[in-house]
Amino acid sequence: VPTERIRNISIIAHIDHGKSTLADRLLEITGTVSARDMKEQFMDSNEIERDRGITIKLNAARMNYTNPEDGLNYVIHLIDTPGHVDFTFEVSRSLEACEGALLVVDASQGVEAQTLANVYLALDANLELIPVLNKIDLPGAEPERVSREIEEVVGLDTSNAIRASAKAGVGISDILSGIIHYIPPPAGNTASPLRALIFDSYYDPYRGVIVYFRIVDGSLRKGEKIKFMVTGKDFIAEEIGVMTPDQQPVDVLGSGEIGYLIAGVKTVEDARVGDTITTSTKGAEEPLPGYQEAKPMLFAGLFPLDSDQYHQLKDSLEKLKLNDAALQFEVENSAAMGFGFRCGFLGLLHMEVVQERLEREYGLDIITTAPSVVYSVKPVKGEEFFLDNPADLPDATKREYISEPYCRLEIITPEEYVGTLMELAQSRRGEYKDMRYLVQGRTTLVYDLPLAELVNDFFDHLKSRTKGYASMEYTVTGYRQNDLVRLDVAINGENVDALSGIVHREKAYSVGKALVTKLKEIVPRAQFKIPIQAKIGAKIVASQQISALKKDVTAKCYGGDISRKKKLIQKQAAGKKRMKAIGKVSVPQEAFKAMLSIN
Ligand code: GTP
Repeated sequence: VPTERIRNISIIAHIDHGKSTLADRLLEITGTVSARDMKEQFMDSNEIERDRGITIKLNAARMNYTNPEDGLNYVIHLIDTPGHVDFTFEVSRSLEACEGALLVVDASQGVEAQTLANVYLALDANLELIPVLNKIDLPGAEPERVSREIEEVVGLDTSNAIRASAKAGVGISDILSGIIHYIPPPAGNTASPLRALIFDSYYDPYRGVIVYFRIVDGSLRKGEKIKFMVTGKDFIAEEIGVMTPDQQPVDVLGSGEIGYLIAGVKTVEDARVGDTITTSTKGAEEPLPGYQEAKPMLFAGLFPLDSDQYHQLKDSLEKLKLNDAALQFEVENSAAMGFGFRCGFLGLLHMEVVQERLEREYGLDIITTAPSVVYSVKPVKGEEFFLDNPADLPDATKREYISEPYCRLEIITPEEYVGTLMELAQSRRGEYKDMRYLVQGRTTLVYDLPLAELVNDFFDHLKSRTKGYASMEYTVTGYRQNDLVRLDVAINGENVDALSGIVHREKAYSVGKALVTKLKEIVPRAQFKIPIQAKIGAKIVASQQISALKKDVTAKCYGGDISRKKKLIQKQAAGKKRMKAIGKVSVPQEAFKAMLSIN
């Protein structure tokens, strides 16, 4: 089809407002995916995504649509975006590949923190937005109120807003005609040298890396020699094609089109999201703007429960890395835990997903330590450096200062919860910045907060204190020096380096106390007494003791009932499963996460 009849769109929404459901309906009504093939949530194809009901990797689909008004055939490319903060960079890339977006807002809820954050990203990318008031089938839906909210808060004209129910299939054809009317066609220059934006890539074990791209200028032919401009690597476009959504090879793709490419690329690191594809000869001079390295924000130690699984863990991480450029890892040797890997993640969700894949898909049993942010440390001798493992912090006498990452946090909440949320933010060392009345009954709160205080259970507390009604969004803004110390833990007289954490000095006593109390509950009793201590340097700041076990549990069976005895032994064995032997003590996985739920 000619460029004037191409539309490239994205769907943006706050989590759970119905983005994936709407995408499914669009695929269905355009006949892209037949109702018979329509799996629940086609766009959320990954197993973990489906289980969690979240979109992690974005997906693209090409739809053919005959416009009833002019009887002409149009091509609509739909790009689904991830809804979670860990993946903001992928959202911004997929938006760059589009001219417009559907802004889906749950009509029973209204504008939320991620609605706003995504709208700002869309406006940065100069997108035309069509508001979709979704879930109008719900009895609590208030499309008028939510329309006003979008006008007031987002500043968007809602005269072309569409009322829809993605679930019941209401308003879907209005959305399609809205896309044709309000979203401009691509404006690239077919005669210019090729410039195509990579907005996604994934590793396929049989075909290598599959690259998703949007052609901005020029065109791409099958068999052409190409260059990825940021990495500087050359490849041959062995296969190019479109996503219908199954991959269908074509010979040439022109300006404005979205497609996939197979070019013998070995790992997604060589096809980074944000890079520009051009031709090797007579290529473009300048790459497209906005390439950004995905930087890990959180680091944690991953240790095999059984040290024999070390090589298997290494292989598995390498395989995951083929498909996840943001995942970083290097060997870590812990005095307490043995050999494992220090891994870097974009955020907590990313970390959980990796951990879950290692366990489910690779059958590994691993212990993960509490995640740490990346500190910046200035030693007395030498240059300032980044530190992602608290165990590596130089002694207090050997360092000049430590700084920690800060973020700007924006919360949207019903006004009755403002008090409790201010208390929460203050208890997490938050610095009050601003409070704005948003719309009738709802308020925006702005805080500057250390990232370390946010990455633990802050979000859970925000949700539970507001019955789930508040939403939040944050961006990392920079580093600040603070009076931070390392809190160490000793169990049965042995320092457990994997339990060390960096905390603010003023909180060290209360955190230490809470931590040893928690560990006392978690660590199972043994035949001997187990002292647990929290220390700063050599100074003990809190301690607890686990008393010795008096009897063997099987002693109760008097040797009579053998099957009962067997059952007990099996139970004990199962209980031991996720435990790491540290000295003579078995420490369960929860112990390493204890720090997360303490503040
Ligand atoms: P993420 O992909 O995680 O960002 O969420 P999402 O925005 O894609 O939401 P999703 O499509 O997964 O829908 C969230 C929930 O809302 C699901 O339980 C849907 O069945 C439900 N839902 C979506 N659209 C509608 C609708 O129009 N009406 C009603 N009643 N429920 C809907």
